[in-house]
Amino acid sequence: MTALPAVTSLHALLAGRPAEAACEVEIGCGNGHFLAAYAADRRDTLLIGIDLKAHRCRRAQEKADKRGFTHVHILQGAAEVFIRDLPPRSVDAFHIYFPDPWPKSRHRKRRFFTGENLQVLVDRLRPGGRLHFGTDFFDYYLQAKVLVALHPLLRLTSEPAPQPVLSSIYGQRFTEAEKAIRIFTAERSALPDDQGQQDKDQRQVDRDVQANEDR
Ligand SMILES: C[S@@+](CC[C@H](N)C(=O)[O-])C[C@H]1O[C@@H](n2cnc3c(N)ncnc32)[C@H](O)[C@@H]1O
Repeated sequence: MTALPAVTSLHALLAGRPAEAACEVEIGCGNGHFLAAYAADRRDTLLIGIDLKAHRCRRAQEKADKRGFTHVHILQGAAEVFIRDLPPRSVDAFHIYFPDPWPKSRHRKRRFFTGENLQVLVDRLRPGGRLHFGTDFFDYYLQAKVLVALHPLLRLTSEPAPQPVLSSIYGQRFTEAEKAIRIFTAERSALPDDQGQQDKDQRQVDRDVQANEDR
């Protein structure tokens, strides 16, 4: 895993901020097209982009700076490490658009969206926070959606994805190629953690009862 300037920069970025201040994070922000479009209407939100590649981070930060977006900060490093450094319940939304799909089955374990990383994301989301995930890769979409559907504190919502998602480089590329792009949004429960599990169990019981009655 890459050595991480991200960790130090993150501490400096968060130091002195009120705990309730709004914050959203894009994982794998690439050249920053999504954040640059998304940031215009969110001047009160700290928007953090993280990417492994230094040159992409540089371009993304330049894009934000050119527009005078002082609330956008791009950090370089591995997102897996970075998310563990975020304070619990401090993030209003995570955005993950077109993450590397690692299509070969022997490489799948390199995908970012694993059960382990998902648990860290959920721990860092505020109650009611959002997790947005989009990909053109059906197999990855299924993997991510199943993990989310099974998580006791997450609920898939029907709300539309943040519109600028298709303005990212890959969003534009896949749109032009007319590839199917699948995006979901999940909401973190506003309930206490154990109540979230009970709630999900109860919904399953209700579904089972209903299925029996329908037979
Ligand atoms: C396919 S590109 C998509 C970029 C952008 N989201 C878009 O839609 O244009 C995936 C991006 O994720 C970054 N990336 C891959 N693995 C990462 C990791 N472990 N942590 C942070 N960024 C990562 C890559 O450097 C690349 O910029």
